[in-house]
Amino acid sequence: MAATDALRLEGVTRRFGAVTALHEAWLKVQDGEFVTLLGPSGCGKTTLLNLIAGFLEADAGEIFIGGKLVTTLPVWERDLGMVFQSYALFPHMDVARNVGYGLRARGIPRTEEAARVTEALGLVRLSAMAARRPKQLSGGQQQRVALARALVIRPRLLLLDEPFSALDRNLRTEMQLELKEIQRRLGVTTIFVTHDQGEAMSMSDRVAVMSEGRILQLDTPEVIYGRPAHPFVAGFIGDATVLPGRLVARDGAQAQVEAAGLAFTVPAETLGDAPPGAALSVYLRPEDLHPIEDGPGLDGTVISRAYLGDRAELVVECGAAGRLMLRLPGQAAMARWPVGAPLRVGFAGARPVAFPA
Ligand SMILES: Nc1ncnc2c1ncn2[C@@H]1O[C@H](COP(=O)(O)OP(=O)(O)OP(=O)(O)O)[C@@H](O)[C@H]1O
Ligand SMILES: [Mg+2]
Repeated sequence: MAATDALRLEGVTRRFGAVTALHEAWLKVQDGEFVTLLGPSGCGKTTLLNLIAGFLEADAGEIFIGGKLVTTLPVWERDLGMVFQSYALFPHMDVARNVGYGLRARGIPRTEEAARVTEALGLVRLSAMAARRPKQLSGGQQQRVALARALVIRPRLLLLDEPFSALDRNLRTEMQLELKEIQRRLGVTTIFVTHDQGEAMSMSDRVAVMSEGRILQLDTPEVIYGRPAHPFVAGFIGDATVLPGRLVARDGAQAQVEAAGLAFTVPAETLGDAPPGAALSVYLRPEDLHPIEDGPGLDGTVISRAYLGDRAELVVECGAAGRLMLRLPGQAAMARWPVGAPLRVGFAGARPVAFPA
C-alpha cells in the first residue's frame, strides 16, 4: 500500500471579500512531521490553520487528513487536537476535568478517562495540579493544560496557533523544548503557527514561509536559511546585507556575479531568465563577512555596534556599497573596533544568493 500523507492540501484558496487570505496553498505533511507556518502578521497563517481544522470553509481546493477527504467535514469529524494563543480553558472546571473534556465529549468511559488524563498530565509534568482551577496556575502551566487537553484524545493532527506568544522569553524557550520533546516522543504530526523565526527554526522539521496569502517556500530550516528561493524569504529569515550587483556569466547550476566591485559565485536557480549584465540583488549573511587586513574586500568605518554577550554586531559603512553587518565574538570585537574605527570587510567562503533586482 502506498504511504499516505498525514495532511495534504491541494490548491486551497480562501477569500474574505476582496482580500485573498490564502492563495492556492499546496502542502504535503508526512506522518510524525513537525511543520511550522511562519510569516508576518496578516499573511494567512491562522486562515490556513482554520481551514485545516474546519473552522473555515475553502472557496476552492481540497484538504485530506490521513488520506481521507475532509474539505467539507465539520471540525469534530477531523480528529484533531488544537492549542490556541489564548488557553481557552474552562474556568469552572479543575485541571483534570479540563483535560478530560474531549474524552467525555467522545463518550469514553469514566475509568478510561481517568487513566488517560493521568497519563496526559504526566506528559506535561502537571500531575500534582490535577485538582486546581485554571486561575490558580501560571500562564505556562495553563498552556501545558491546554496541550494535555489537545493530546489526550490522541489526535491524528496537532494544530497550534501561536501557543507561546503570551509567555515571557524564558518560559517560552522552556515550553518550546518541552513541546518538541513531547512531540518527538508521541510522534504526533504537528502544524505549528508562529511569526517568530527563532521559534520556527529551532523546533521544525520543515518551515513554510508565507507572505500575502502564499506559501513561498517549504523546506528544512537549513535550506530556508542557506538557499532561500524568494527574495522575501531571504530578507525575512535571518539577517542579510543586500548589495546591488549584476550577472556576469552562467555556468550550469552556478553563476558568476559582480557586486561592489567584487566577484561572487551564486546558485543559478534563483536568477530566472536574467541575461548576462542584468541587475541583481545579492544577499550576504553576517557570517559571510569578516574583518581582514588586506586582500579583496571593502574599506569602511564602524558606525554602530551592539554588544550581545557571546557576540557583537557591528555595522560598517562602506561608501557606495552601503552598510554591512558583521557578527563577531563579543569581547574581542568590543576591544578592537570602537565606533569610528576603520575596518576592511572580506568575503572569503561567502555563499551568497542573488535574485533579479
Ligand atoms: N473573518 C475575517 N474577515 C475578514 N478578513 C479576514 C478574516 N479573517 C482574516 N482576515 C484577513 O485575512 C488575512 C489573513 O489573516 P490571518 O488571520 O490568517 O493572518 P495571520 O497570518 O494569522 O496573522 P497574525 O500573525 O496577525 O495572527 C488578513 O488580511 C486578515 O485581515
Ligand atoms: Mg494568526
